Amino acid sequence: MAHQWQGIINEYRERLPFDDADAVVTLKEGGTPLVRAEKLAARTGAEVYIKVEGANPTGSFKDRGMTSAITQVVKEGTQIVACASTGNTSASAAAYAAKAGLGCAVILPAGKIAAGKLAQAIVHGANLVAVDGNFDDCLRIVRELTEKYPVALVNSVNPYRLQGQKTAAFEIVDELGDAPDIHILPVGNAGNISAYWMGYNEYAGHTTAASMDESATRLEPHATRLPRMWGVQAAGAAPFVAGHPIENPETVATAIRIGNPASWNYAVAARDDSRGWIRAVSDEDILRAQRILAEEVGIFVEPASAASVAGLLAAAESGEVPENARIVCTVTGNGLKDTATALAGRDIDFDPIASSLDAAVAALGL
Ligand code: F0G
Repeated sequence: MAHQWQGIINEYRERLPFDDADAVVTLKEGGTPLVRAEKLAARTGAEVYIKVEGANPTGSFKDRGMTSAITQVVKEGTQIVACASTGNTSASAAAYAAKAGLGCAVILPAGKIAAGKLAQAIVHGANLVAVDGNFDDCLRIVRELTEKYPVALVNSVNPYRLQGQKTAAFEIVDELGDAPDIHILPVGNAGNISAYWMGYNEYAGHTTAASMDESATRLEPHATRLPRMWGVQAAGAAPFVAGHPIENPETVATAIRIGNPASWNYAVAARDDSRGWIRAVSDEDILRAQRILAEEVGIFVEPASAASVAGLLAAAESGEVPENARIVCTVTGNGLKDTATALAGRDIDFDPIASSLDAAVAALGL
């Protein structure tokens, strides 16, 4: 019988900080598709794979970190979780809190959350507060809140989040047989690039500053090499490119509209220790990459996710992509979360035709 995926904790328990006795809160996250993108290969001269994290239960990579964060919260006995969010973290926290029977408080930047994500937090029963400020303001509030009240913080400053998220790197190595030459992903609060770098390192038998224990050095390595980490930010929200926090971040990719990333030092280490880079791409380039992914690869992602492919294309244009390099781009969230941005500027007011084959054939121009 074919193996049925059991969620990232059950699949990778020996490399995660949980025992067999721990009750796992899971929606069977992970095990996401790694799709070969021939058209992107033709555009770049590399061997390109897309890691489709929008295929997770709530439609983003956050579920990997949320299964581990919420499992730990339940183990410790806290009844309420809280997060700041540009949308996806809140959607995931709300769903896993619902599964575990916990309360969930969500602090959001007012007016800057894609409709699909807001819908998710609401239907899963989270308690929502909209702040007149940006994500960085929300994170500051929720950090103070969770210090002063018996509420568990489930943003990626909670180390269990990165533990779960590192499993995406394990899956890539398991599928490709070793680490790729280059891994590209969008960077916002900078947890995910830190988690991938930890995952690649641990699978190769090393720890990083984000590691929670030494188990990686005891377990048999599954990778012989490490990738270069290429991070991509939106030009209006690119603190790593500026070298300092940005006060008023702005981008169409609202998920990465972040000016003061929490995992700054881990991300800088991932970039430098891997001899990689973090660059900025324009909103236009992000939306172009979103269209290319949809039209040429068959994958509909939200704008922030397309930043990884925008970064790949920019690197190819400037001659930085080594020929035949094996490259994995993570696309972090599902396009259905933000249809308004994807459809902006497109004519979607269809004039109905008569209900006949002839009228349909005429209208289609066949
Ligand atoms: N892509 C998407 C779709 C995201 O939602 C996020 C972060 C990122 C990329 C960046 O990842 O923060 O680990 O560097 N979203 C967070 C949220 C901030 O609240 O949902 P990161």
